[in-house]
Amino acid sequence: MEVIIQPTAEKAALLVARLIARRLRAKPAFVLGLATGRTMEQVYGHLAEMHRRDHLDFSLCRTFNLDEYVGLSPKDQHSYRYYMDQHLFSRVNIDRRNTHLPNGAARDLGAECVRYEELIHDCGGIDVQLLGIGADGHIGFNEPLSALRSRTREKALTPATIRQNAPLFGGKASAVPRRALTMGIGTILDASHILTLVTGAEKASILAKAVEGPITSMVTASALQLHADCKVIVDEAASKRLRGRDYYRWIFRNEPEWQEFRAR
Ligand code: F6R
Repeated sequence: MEVIIQPTAEKAALLVARLIARRLRAKPAFVLGLATGRTMEQVYGHLAEMHRRDHLDFSLCRTFNLDEYVGLSPKDQHSYRYYMDQHLFSRVNIDRRNTHLPNGAARDLGAECVRYEELIHDCGGIDVQLLGIGADGHIGFNEPLSALRSRTREKALTPATIRQNAPLFGGKASAVPRRALTMGIGTILDASHILTLVTGAEKASILAKAVEGPITSMVTASALQLHADCKVIVDEAASKRLRGRDYYRWIFRNEPEWQEFRAR
């Protein structure tokens, strides 16, 4: 795992977008795992801008989102399909048929989860998975005690997640669906590369647990420590509780792989 600290949330999101853009240019038919949530909005803004300004080409790219609420139709403005259309898909030249989310409105949710896993497998697996971390340390909707080898399945959301996501439902916690379909931790760890973006002082304590604490299903983001190529990009505010901050800063300032990103 590598932790990279950027001065602001804006710069952290830009770095994540640039890392994705570099991989997309190197392999136009790459398979991108996507996340939703407030943290990702800036990343998608930058990718849309890179498409507009620099012709970043999404025409061959295939995407798989981490999760979707159970019971919401794709047209529902609170669904993650709607979020993705708004923030990314409608703003770049991606073929909508190449964009995939689990269908939370499926009649047989178990069969839908199996179908989703098979589709990822048939596409050759995920090249880059984008992640945020929830208030309770989740990745995807893998809430505390999720098995570290879990696959795509239905999960009940914790009260912390329901509170965290209430602002996206007009501030009403009662309007947030209680269940979701989510890639499992095993599914996420199968991705070739992982990019995690965490910003804001309110995430400082859970970030420290995920990155520097013991690997535990109580903080499912801690499972990322098992991945061979996981980068965690954070802003100053989120980095405040990290014991290794000085070392992480040294890495960004000195390691050759970060040179092109230091220049700007
Ligand atoms: C979203 C997802 C979640 C979020 C996490 C952070 O698809 O899977 O794990 O990434 O809850 O959400 P924000 O960015 O809203 O704090």
